[in-house]
Amino acid sequence: MSSRKFFVGGNWKMNGDKKSLGDLITTLNTASLNDETEVVCGAPTVYLDFARSNLDARMGVAAQNCYKVAKGAFTGEISPVMIKDCGVEWVILGHSERRHVFGESDELIGQKVAHALESGLGVIACIGEKLEEREAGTTEEVVYAQTQAIAVVVVDNVKDWSKVVLAYEPVWAIGTGKTASPEQAQEVHEKLREWMRVNVSEAVADSVRIIYGGSVTGANCKELGSQNDVDGFLVGGASLKPEFVDIINARA
Ligand code: PGA
Repeated sequence: MSSRKFFVGGNWKMNGDKKSLGDLITTLNTASLNDETEVVCGAPTVYLDFARSNLDARMGVAAQNCYKVAKGAFTGEISPVMIKDCGVEWVILGHSERRHVFGESDELIGQKVAHALESGLGVIACIGEKLEEREAGTTEEVVYAQTQAIAVVVVDNVKDWSKVVLAYEPVWAIGTGKTASPEQAQEVHEKLREWMRVNVSEAVADSVRIIYGGSVTGANCKELGSQNDVDGFLVGGASLKPEFVDIINARA
């Protein structure tokens, strides 16, 4: 097993209210959590402050999106400085729902990643192929291009990979109950790490955490998490349930 710290992110998406999220936070705060695992919960924008104020400090909080500049006339957007002002340390960028429901391009995602990192946030950067791309045999091409758009801004602008977590989330596995098999996940993660080795550096390839997302549950997390290049998870649906605790403790 590698020395990379296991990372489990919850992505609450546009779900919950103060009552249900408050109950979930109480469950997490009182649970016995493996302290070898870094835990970050992605809250809806309006609940960032609420989540950060109520969630135990041993867990991080993430925004689910942000814009590429610090302030200005961008109605409806939020910036990394505002996220930080709420005491929140992370942001999820490039999620497939941002890419495919809201039409965000690789270029825009790259700009957002650069600005978020420059502002001092950690970034959970998401990539992943659609079903038709997998079936057409273009998975590698797609995830390499998406990774390249992120890597180039880190290499050129920020040069600090310690605050980047790469989330491989095959679109066909997100919210569908069709999890990638441990072998499928490991295969792509290993290739992504190799891509990093060739295109970034040995040190970054060895240290960057590559996490898997797509229908992770309490039932499948142990096997997925035992793969050599799977350094954690980004969890949607199951992060809203008490079983998130089992996922956090997948390697316990
Ligand atoms: P899911 O979502 O766990 O509900 O498949 C994962 C994600 O979108 O990050």
